[in-house]
Amino acid sequence: MNQTTQATAIVTGAARGIGLATTQLFLSKGYRVAMVDRDTAELQSVAAALQNVLAVDCDVSQEDQVNAMMHTVLQWSGRVDVLVNNAGVADFAAIQDTTFERWKTVMRTNLDGVFLCSQAALPALRESKGCIVNIASISGLRASTLRVAYGTSKAAVIHLTKQQAAELGEWGVRVNCVAPGPVKTKLAAAVHTPAIVNAYHDAIPLNRYGSEEEIARVIVFLASDEASYMTGQMIAVDGGFDATGVGLPTLRSD
Ligand SMILES: NC(=O)c1ccc[n+]([C@@H]2O[C@H](COP(=O)([O-])OP(=O)(O)OC[C@H]3O[C@@H](n4cnc5c(N)ncnc54)[C@H](O)[C@@H]3O)[C@@H](O)[C@H]2O)c1
Repeated sequence: MNQTTQATAIVTGAARGIGLATTQLFLSKGYRVAMVDRDTAELQSVAAALQNVLAVDCDVSQEDQVNAMMHTVLQWSGRVDVLVNNAGVADFAAIQDTTFERWKTVMRTNLDGVFLCSQAALPALRESKGCIVNIASISGLRASTLRVAYGTSKAAVIHLTKQQAAELGEWGVRVNCVAPGPVKTKLAAAVHTPAIVNAYHDAIPLNRYGSEEEIARVIVFLASDEASYMTGQMIAVDGGFDATGVGLPTLRSD
């Protein structure tokens, strides 16, 4: 096993979108990054263009694959300082169309994946006094139509963050959570119909989608020593969505 002095981050769902932007920001700050994804082709192609990364093919919802991933990462770096549980899937459907299979598909990645990767990383994080950043969503903060599975999975991630913080603080391991607002990634493109896009514009004080980099900056901040006294927290990076109630469409039509 190698033992590097360079801080090492694991980012799940790193092949594209928010995970890729987070990987690039960690690299620019001198971390080495284990990029974890189940989309092998995309992962290999983006990782080939980057230095100081290890691409690990892994479905975070499968316990055996997660354990193998952690073993591979530790062989590579001998340490884990940061785990970003970012891999996620979205499936928007009305309650009556949400079969148990669809529900389980969302829960397996969005909730089981966070639990499994965190459990596997615990010994290494304990040793490094490292930290976890879980990626939830504004859909976990406020209920909305079509998100019975997705919204519930993300609300659970917010609570799991607090459960983890409550026990892992004893080891000096911090756990925080980022709840992104809408970002134009492949995930959002698959579920944000024109009506949903318009609804978001109506509901967001800053009146726009966020960028991958705007989410990544908060993730990397939470992972850094700048946030050394923060644990068990959820930060919404959402253009003000969570803060508002009725009134914005009226304001905009004036
Ligand atoms: N884009 C948004 O508007 C938005 C808003 C709120 C929260 N989020 C959350 O941010 C995170 C990243 O989303 P994104 O928009 O960048 O999505 P994306 O679809 O662009 O990227 C997600 C990546 O995760 C990978 N992935 C999915 N399931 C996996 C699994 N089981 N194992 C391993 N890899 C897996 C995919 O292959 C993909 O590369 C997700 O957790 C998502 O729920 C996104």
